[in-house]
Amino acid sequence: MSKEAQLSTYLEFLRFASVSTDSSFTPHLRGCAEWLKARFLKMGLKATIHETPRHPIVVAQNEHKAGRKSLLIYGHYDVQPVDPLNLWDHPPFEPHIDGDKIYARGSADNKGQILPHILGVEAYLAQHKELPLNITFLVEGEEEIGSPNLKPFVEKNRDLLKCDVVLVSDTSMVGPEAPAITYALRGIATCEIKIKGPSHDLHSGVNGGGVTNPAWVAARIGAQLHDENFHVQIPHFYDDVKALADWEREEWKKLPVQEKEVMEQVGVDALYGEKGFSYYERVWARPTAEINGIGGGYQGEGSKTVLPKEAQVKLSFRLVPDQNPERILDHVETWVKGLKFPGCKLEFKRGHSGKPYICNPKSPIMESTLACVEEVFGDKTFLIREGGSIPVIQTFKEQLGADSLLVGLALPDCLAHAPNENMSLRNFFKGIELCQKLLTALAK
Ligand code: BES
Ligand code: MN
Repeated sequence: MSKEAQLSTYLEFLRFASVSTDSSFTPHLRGCAEWLKARFLKMGLKATIHETPRHPIVVAQNEHKAGRKSLLIYGHYDVQPVDPLNLWDHPPFEPHIDGDKIYARGSADNKGQILPHILGVEAYLAQHKELPLNITFLVEGEEEIGSPNLKPFVEKNRDLLKCDVVLVSDTSMVGPEAPAITYALRGIATCEIKIKGPSHDLHSGVNGGGVTNPAWVAARIGAQLHDENFHVQIPHFYDDVKALADWEREEWKKLPVQEKEVMEQVGVDALYGEKGFSYYERVWARPTAEINGIGGGYQGEGSKTVLPKEAQVKLSFRLVPDQNPERILDHVETWVKGLKFPGCKLEFKRGHSGKPYICNPKSPIMESTLACVEEVFGDKTFLIREGGSIPVIQTFKEQLGADSLLVGLALPDCLAHAPNENMSLRNFFKGIELCQKLLTALAK
């Protein structure tokens, strides 16, 4: 397939508004899954759509033969919501190209990173007629909501998904000339706290000072998550945290992108976090408590003297080996239930979760993957951890006994989850090349 045809395939893929969290987008996820299935069939693979209670899972395979290595290639076709829409320079589902960059929701996370593998396998087949290993593509539509249906699917389909190793491009490089292979991901645990106070909104002059204000309770809960050293104060939170190794601290000091560049990337004049750890140590190897949403009371223009009847806080915790998300939520729930605010009731609701993941960065298969990346990109390639989560990766390890090769194609300024998400076209095409190299290397 020509480069032009590969690019127009990418554009087609990006035009599906496959926002998994919002049920009004459900038809677009269905359309996107059907589109993927048709693509796989066109390449000569067997492709199936597996229904789930929410969004479909697409599986595609070549004819599996005994005596060959098996490779599972995982990715997701769902995307995060686009809001705030007004901050996009171009509509998020009408991809826009400017120089090396293509702008669209999902351009980097994850359509522009799974598609190079699909196109890579297609190119390999066009050239060699037959693949050197047994391949299974697994592309899901619920990664951005915690893969709730993929995890049980993997458990129930261990034979179908059996593999020696998993290949995933859903992480980042360190910089444009600094590719990276990720050997650890943080896990995640989410929850929501609803604070219910008086039976109706009150006049803040008439009743203020005499009744607990739920919005104050929300702020108070947020403020009590950390102490002055930004250490999480929830009892037992750090019980199972594995310390990072000395060699990791040393390696990360040598990365070509350091705190100054990070400050530029994120647009702040100072970084902040847990005392005693560098930026990379904090985001890659330390657990966190984060407020993702907090609200209650008047949010409109001007002022309103109201004492709101309720408020809420949405929290997420990023977790590192060997923290267990369910146990962490137990600790959080115990902590929340112990907070007493007279006249307010706290409702605790557990959300989705995913386990942290780590593998041996120096294994032979990691080394040969690293050699392929260096050859294709022509740059020194770094072994890193990442702060983000891919909930199913640890499930692959537990259920299939397979580690994941996390070869990121996105750049650190790709703006994943934010307005103007973008992908480097150079990396997209390098990804197609890389996939073909890896097929040969991993077959050995
Ligand atoms: N691709 C990301 C994960 C990621 C991002 C890993 C950057 C490493 C570096 C993935 O699509 C993602 O956003 N995952 C969610 C999972 C969550 C919703 C369960 C995340 O990390 O917030
Ligand atoms: Mn994402």
